[in-house]
Amino acid sequence: MQINLIFAQSTNKVIGHENKLPWHLPEDLAHFKALTSGQTVLMGRKTWESLPAAFRPLPGRLNLVLSSNTALHLDGALTVNTPAQAIEQAQLQAARSPNTAALPTLWVIGGAQVYDLFMPLASRIEVTEIELTVDGDAYAPTIDATWQEVTRNRHQSAKGLGYSFVSYQKISQRIEHV
Ligand SMILES: NC(=O)c1ccc[n+]([C@@H]2O[C@H](COP(=O)([O-])OP(=O)(O)OC[C@H]3O[C@@H](n4cnc5c(N)ncnc54)[C@H](OP(=O)(O)O)[C@@H]3O)[C@@H](O)[C@H]2O)c1
Repeated sequence: MQINLIFAQSTNKVIGHENKLPWHLPEDLAHFKALTSGQTVLMGRKTWESLPAAFRPLPGRLNLVLSSNTALHLDGALTVNTPAQAIEQAQLQAARSPNTAALPTLWVIGGAQVYDLFMPLASRIEVTEIELTVDGDAYAPTIDATWQEVTRNRHQSAKGLGYSFVSYQKISQRIEHV
């Protein structure tokens, strides 16, 4: 199972404000859809609630929602109560999927609490860097020196906003023999 994180952040590392995205960037939503379609996405209960009712569940993807509430039932999403349950459900979904060529993938799609939880388990991160400074109360996880930037592509939105799609890979751990 490969675990990927995907998020968009402002220049000052904000990812959310009052349980909403502080920007509207259709180009980023299209990028998000292209990367995650046909796969399993995992989000925290607050991120699920932040999605407008008309846009949830995210179509064409198994939607997993992490919550400590074992009685939580959501239309169109499967509730999981632990990270291990999320991984197990993503594996079951991959086994059901006809596309066996690709490595089964769990896309962690936020928010801040869930990124922090899955960061140590992830091997790839997709970040959209949005050239804005905004107020916020939810922040991007720290991408430390165990990650290597592998691609960076800058674009300008139809409305003139600059943004970059940036990919990181986890640097594999080497065991030094002395
Ligand atoms: N810019 C982006 O790319 C992006 C993407 C996604 C979200 N966001 C933003 O991020 C913000 C939401 O992030 P957030 O950190 O406040 O909330 P969150 O991570 O979406 O959800 C937090 C909830 O997840 C559950 N949870 C967390 N850890 C758990 C664990 N170990 N076991 C069981 N359940 C656990 C809890 O639900 P219960 O309370 O039900 O137990 C917790 O309240 C919003 O502003 C949203 O717009 C931004």
